[in-house]
Amino acid sequence: MLLLVPFVLFAATVGAAVPSTQGFDESTIAKVRANMINISTHSWELGAMAQALTELEVPSLSVFSNNKLPPPQSLSAQVRAEAVDVFNLATRIVREKPANSSVLIDGDGAAGDPASLGVAVALTGWTRENRSDSSFDVAAQEQLDHLLNDVPRDANGAISQREDQVQLWADYVFMAPPFIAYEGALKTGDEQLELLREAYDQCRDYREVLSDDSGLWKHILLGTGIQDLTHWGTGNAWAAAGMLRVLETITHSDAAWAFEQETRNLTSWVTDIVSATWHHQGRNGTLFNVIDDPTTFADSSSTALLAASTYRLATITNDFTWIGFADKALQLIKNSIDKDGWLLNTVDPETFNTPSLPGAHSPEGQTFVILLHTAQQDFLEHIGL
Ligand SMILES: *[C@@H]1O[C@H](CO)[C@@H](O)[C@H](O)[C@H]1NC(C)=O
Ligand SMILES: *[C@@H]1O[C@H](CO)[C@@H](O)[C@H](O)[C@H]1NC(C)=O
Ligand SMILES: *[C@@H]1O[C@H](CO)[C@@H](O)[C@H](O)[C@H]1NC(C)=O
Ligand SMILES: *[C@@H]1O[C@H](CO)[C@@H](O)[C@H](O)[C@H]1NC(C)=O
Ligand SMILES: *[C@@H]1O[C@H](CO)[C@@H](O)[C@H](O)[C@H]1NC(C)=O
Repeated sequence: MLLLVPFVLFAATVGAAVPSTQGFDESTIAKVRANMINISTHSWELGAMAQALTELEVPSLSVFSNNKLPPPQSLSAQVRAEAVDVFNLATRIVREKPANSSVLIDGDGAAGDPASLGVAVALTGWTRENRSDSSFDVAAQEQLDHLLNDVPRDANGAISQREDQVQLWADYVFMAPPFIAYEGALKTGDEQLELLREAYDQCRDYREVLSDDSGLWKHILLGTGIQDLTHWGTGNAWAAAGMLRVLETITHSDAAWAFEQETRNLTSWVTDIVSATWHHQGRNGTLFNVIDDPTTFADSSSTALLAASTYRLATITNDFTWIGFADKALQLIKNSIDKDGWLLNTVDPETFNTPSLPGAHSPEGQTFVILLHTAQQDFLEHIGL
């Protein structure tokens, strides 16, 4: 029965192709993970890595598990052991944070990026064994207060991705709203409702400015200096993956009842990106650096995170329309990892519009492979394969 029900569900939805179960092998994932840890240094890279380590090593504490939020404050010895890498990362961040800093880590002018470490820090504080050590809770709260009260906002309410001016980047949606939502899930009463609503509003406000009729999001708008009006693959991937985390955080919180329309909207906004993306997939499974411009180069980073988001979305909605595209993308990613566990053919994450230089590797690309692996595994488990 357990096997039959998901299979029937699946067959009824698409009828045709059976999803590929050919995932990554464990030794590849081990190498990809070691390289990710070795080269991730920037605030957003560490925040994305914290999410990847959570999904890979302690999935019961990920917002994508079916467990209710907040998690238990007292963890079993087994879960505590699984969580050691996440806790160690959060501990390092909090111990190294200067006493006069209201953000978790230097964001080099970015307001959203340091917040990407917030979930790991808040989780570590919530589940800590030493109940008289409030350093994690204090650090997470200061980061949250800074984001909500000090960072400039657009007229529509969107909190800027930059500290010194109002500028919206699609990337922000993965960095800040999932943390705001998670803080909401850990709180109660009005404070909980306000934070969950703020996380949703941030997604809505960013989408209002950055998305267009294509269904895709532009990368960077407003403010002065750098602008990127293209449908950057990685930007769309950050937006989809971030909204999925907000969606699942709200869904698993005990205030989910108050957000029915909001969770429906988040689901449809992720669907907009996913459905607009795969029409542009190359024959070999790749996406291009600018999703709807095949004259740009093939980019494995965005391909990995958009495929991951496609598996996550299908696991939530039971709509398997785009799974065949994600399966094909996953095979391309498998074939794009060298024997040492490096993802090849990535975009340079700091130029946005050139490939990584020969011999250089993308820290976030390594992380996206892990997120793809965990999303595919959870999808296969969901459909009983
Ligand atoms: C990290 O990279 C350095 C070289 O930069 C290497 O010596 C070391 O073995 C690597 N560590 C891991 C865990 O891969
Ligand atoms: C924190 O203190 C350091 C050293 O005293 C100083 O260089 C830095 O500007 C201060 N940062 C803030 C945000 O006040
Ligand atoms: C628990 O945390 C408090 C406050 O930071 C600290 O003084 C104490 O040494 C810690 N206890 C242990 C066993 O680490
Ligand atoms: C959900 O989206 C619809 C259509 O865009 C919009 O009219 C509605 O206000 C949204 N609901 C909320 C709660 O934001
Ligand atoms: C996939 O196809 C694109 C052209 O559509 C090409 O640029 C890219 O190199 C190919 N990727 C691999 C790994 O073969």
